[in-house]
Amino acid sequence: MNTLEDFINAIPKAELHLHIEGTFEPELMFEIAVRNKRKLNYQTVEELKLAYDFNNLQEFLDIYYSGADVLIEEQDFYDLTWAYLQKIHAQHVLHTELFFDPQTHSSRAVPFSKVISGIHRALEDGREKLGISYRLILSILRHLSEESAFQTLQEALEYKGWITAIGLDSSENGHPPSKFERVFALAREEGFLTVAHAGEEGPPEYVWEALNILHVSRIDHGNRSLEDPELVAELVSRNMPLTICPLSNLKLKVVRDRINHPIADMLEKGMMATVNSDDPAYFGGYLNENFLEVARALSLSREQIVQLAKNSFTASFLDPDEKRKMMEKIDRFYQLNPV
Ligand code: ADE
Ligand code: ZN
Repeated sequence: MNTLEDFINAIPKAELHLHIEGTFEPELMFEIAVRNKRKLNYQTVEELKLAYDFNNLQEFLDIYYSGADVLIEEQDFYDLTWAYLQKIHAQHVLHTELFFDPQTHSSRAVPFSKVISGIHRALEDGREKLGISYRLILSILRHLSEESAFQTLQEALEYKGWITAIGLDSSENGHPPSKFERVFALAREEGFLTVAHAGEEGPPEYVWEALNILHVSRIDHGNRSLEDPELVAELVSRNMPLTICPLSNLKLKVVRDRINHPIADMLEKGMMATVNSDDPAYFGGYLNENFLEVARALSLSREQIVQLAKNSFTASFLDPDEKRKMMEKIDRFYQLNPV
């Protein structure tokens, strides 16, 4: 257990920022497209992969939504989720909190029930057969209307027991968190936790709005918080988790270069930063590759990697007893595998 790769691979860890539609690997995409008699805009897996070259969030989202178009049946959502769980099982991810985007599918007349049933069935199989615990987060597409968000939340109420939190994703600029103030108020009234993508491309004001208007339990990304010292102080005083996605930030040009990734600065300032993969099929790596990326680029010590693994459980929606057990697992691992 001497190499950095081995250490990162074996340390127990959790994933807190993962879009299940973003785990759609090209090979499975083609298989499901054929099964559902749908045409993709690309002839081959290689041709599709060549298109994964983005200058910003929107260029990525356009390809991500068109890939998701071939998902139609409950079994498709099962297969997508099961493939992801097998991947993270091999990476020693013990817990995952994943987003799904029901409006991406309801806009194509795929019923909410099929989407959530397929995902949930796979997650339950993952829990039983692979020992991976999970929480499910319904994410609202912010480029769509408040009315569409309300309708989606209404549909979710029937599946309340399966969903822990309501999130906010998609095109950030021009769609501030305040656009969904009333939707998130209802979500909280109904007992859901809330999270929101903020400060990925959008300004620090959007992070303030996520905190003070949507009353989130976590900020997804939050990179641009560093531009506002008052906001940094607020995030530190609240011990507010930020779900940072290193490879995503590079692929979407949210950060200029790898050695200037803000996560080191965040840890130094005492922020509760975590490492995550966002859309691994599109950004070149799952959780281990994201840990490895920051560990190498920022020359993180083993101690800092242990801290990030611990943060992943601290910032999770597991209950305190489950969190304590995970901390003990990490401590035991570190005792057996010192530098
Ligand atoms: N949906 C999937 N990935 C996303 C990201 N990185 N930002 C916003 N919306 C997304
Ligand atoms: Zn995301």
